[in-house]
Amino acid sequence: MPDNSHSNHSLPPGPDTPFTVNTDQATFDIIPEWLDTYGHVVKVYSDVRDRIGYLVNDPDMIRHILIKNPANYQKGPGFERVKMLLGNGIIVSDGAFWRRQRRMIQPAFGKRSIAKLCEQVQQCNQDLLNSWRLKAESNEVIDLTYETNKLSLQVILRVIFSEDVDFLVKQHGSDPFEFLTADTTRDLQVVLKFRALIKLFQDLIDWRREHQPERHDFLDFFMSAIDKESELKMQDKELIDELMTAIIAGHETSAITLNWSWYLLSTHAEVEDQALTEIDSVIAQQPASFEQLLQLKYIKQVVSEALRLYPPVWLFSRTSIKHDQLGQYDVPPGTDIFFSPYYMHRHPEHWENAEEFDPDRFNAVNDKQRANQVYIPFSSGPRRCIGDFFAIVESQLHFGMMLPEFQMQVVENPSLELEPFINLRVKEGIKVTLSKRQ
Ligand code: HEM
Repeated sequence: MPDNSHSNHSLPPGPDTPFTVNTDQATFDIIPEWLDTYGHVVKVYSDVRDRIGYLVNDPDMIRHILIKNPANYQKGPGFERVKMLLGNGIIVSDGAFWRRQRRMIQPAFGKRSIAKLCEQVQQCNQDLLNSWRLKAESNEVIDLTYETNKLSLQVILRVIFSEDVDFLVKQHGSDPFEFLTADTTRDLQVVLKFRALIKLFQDLIDWRREHQPERHDFLDFFMSAIDKESELKMQDKELIDELMTAIIAGHETSAITLNWSWYLLSTHAEVEDQALTEIDSVIAQQPASFEQLLQLKYIKQVVSEALRLYPPVWLFSRTSIKHDQLGQYDVPPGTDIFFSPYYMHRHPEHWENAEEFDPDRFNAVNDKQRANQVYIPFSSGPRRCIGDFFAIVESQLHFGMMLPEFQMQVVENPSLELEPFINLRVKEGIKVTLSKRQ
């Protein structure tokens, strides 16, 4: 075990037996036991990593690490696996390089840009709507989890590449992204298939440079972004890493959010009624305008509550660089820090009836009363999710379009067992039938 005898402060309590915290079932199962036994910050030694880690479930401490002193914490364990998939995209990079990339990419996720991209999102939802109409007519059982997964993949691809998704399919000879919905294991095979996309992306970048087509999508934003400090554009390798990052970071997270939001809406009739009333009063005619989507405040509350109960990123990490202090506890350099939105969102001291689905927690009054950092589905501070606004608008658009047309019935006794890997998935897809509303 590392020698911490030089420390003047104390270390938090924790189990004597070594344990390696990971995005896996064993970690998911043991966290509640630790929190019960040791309190809101737990020290655990990993013999695999030969270092100590703290599980931090206290809003003030989370605030300290993510907002007050983020420069002392770099990305922690787990991110090395993400790096294999994404190269040095902004989800894994750190320091000056991360700052530069974030600065260049940020405007693509602003209001003006997202408003323009809504047309692409609308088209994907229109395709789904047409397909669901047929499924509603035939009353067949559908796999909601698979459907939302497919939709979210289409959405993220269309906002990144717009009509040039077709270029990529043509160039590849078949759908090069199919494995992302067909194979959700993210094992080495998938890493290899994913890395093979690099050549395709390079071809598209070259083609765009040569033909200069008019496009409004993330690729266009990323290709034309100029760093204010260096006055340089991104190099192709950096550009491609950021494309990969946006696909992976924006696909399954959004899919899981839609999956659970639908499930919760369909099993809470009074919430569904209120959502329908809101859509009816805000959207006079389809398709809704961007401004109308932003007015779907109750839908946003529903989605926020789904993200509270089932945050797709249920565990993430940092590693301390220099000594620091968390309340009364010492943080030696090289300490791994783990945050779990899933357990923070169910903390009995911060959430009343935490297991219950109640979108009113997020109405304007209750929202103001909540302590900061007890709700962190998108993390917090400078490394907060860059796609948070987009993810919410994407959901508002989806429900604004689909909910007035379809009622969803969950097939009885769905197994809602969770699969806590990199993202918090359901083990088996949720099966539903659709009927058209009168
Ligand atoms: C409901 C959907 C989403 C959830 C719950 C979510 C959650 C998160 C979380 C928790 C982080 C922080 C991870 C960390 O600090 O270690 C993050 C970062 C990030 N997310 Fe999201 N995300 C969502 C959607 C999206 C979308 C749609 C995109 C892109 C289109 C996206 C792109 C990113 C990127 C690039 C980062 C890294 C930001 C940085 O480090 O500067 N996310 N996300």
